[in-house]
Amino acid sequence: MSDGLPKIELHLHLEGAAPPAFIRGLASEKGSDLSSIFGDDGGYAYRDFADFLRVYEAACTVLRRPEDYARLTRAVLERSAEQGVVYTEIFVSPDFCGGRDLGAWREHLEAIRAASDAVPEIDMRCIVTAIRHFGPDAARQTARCAAEAAGDFVTGFGIGGNEHAGELRDFAYGFDMAREAGLGLTAHAGEWRGPESVRDALDHLRVDRVGHGIRAIEDPALVKRLARDGVTLEVCPGSNVALGVYSDWSAHPVERLRAAGIAVTVSTDDPPFFRTDMSREYARLSDTFGWEDEILAEIARNAARAAFCDEDTRAALLKWIGG
Ligand code: ADE
Ligand code: ZN
Repeated sequence: MSDGLPKIELHLHLEGAAPPAFIRGLASEKGSDLSSIFGDDGGYAYRDFADFLRVYEAACTVLRRPEDYARLTRAVLERSAEQGVVYTEIFVSPDFCGGRDLGAWREHLEAIRAASDAVPEIDMRCIVTAIRHFGPDAARQTARCAAEAAGDFVTGFGIGGNEHAGELRDFAYGFDMAREAGLGLTAHAGEWRGPESVRDALDHLRVDRVGHGIRAIEDPALVKRLARDGVTLEVCPGSNVALGVYSDWSAHPVERLRAAGIAVTVSTDDPPFFRTDMSREYARLSDTFGWEDEILAEIARNAARAAFCDEDTRAALLKWIGG
């Protein structure tokens, strides 16, 4: 396997991509004691998914000002570019960027955009993301932030957070608002809950893509539907193994989903939390499933086809990949 292929990442949480040293540095600047979220190796330490969300939100408490987000965005994009990523879609949460206040959100977004412009090696778009366990009212406010920022930089709307909280249909209003604003839609589903949660994302939120969606493998009729309708899955195998959705890489269904004709893509989700990066994901996929350049190029083409971008950008990406 060669690692020189251009990579496209569609599922990366901005705060979840913050290197531990970056968060430690901000904490010491601000006089916050965050020592409890780090382990002996200096990395993030958590026990399970619920604890991961707690540690994630604790890390976010030191990301307070637009300048913090500018520095974070730059650091994250520089790391991605080093991995050969040429186009990335990053989840950004107004819950953390300005507490869902429209004015504060605009200031944070401007800072993120300026930082993105400062790293021209990689093309970035934002997917504004609601946090499921903050509830449908907060998600509506988040959708308002998304709708009002929709354009050439903010191109998507999504939902993440604790999949066990509430039902996806409770969030339909926010997704309708985002669709009206012309945004691409994605929802985390089928990561912790079963295939019915993927159906809910398709039927109630009418998403274009599904975040994770891997547990669709448990329902052959759903697998057929995803393949037939060309629904793209944002698969993050290293995240799923680190969080214990699957016991190890060989148990991960990504190859079975791909072989069934589903458009799968590969992303890192929250790389420092899972001790991963795009090169490691590719290397593990190659080692575990024998994925060589041809399949990795197919994965990148799937991502280019499903990207929430303008058609000129899509054509340029496909040309670059050789599609
Ligand atoms: N937010 C950040 N990472 C997430 C994940 N893997 N699942 C749900 N919400 C998240
Ligand atoms: Zn995610």
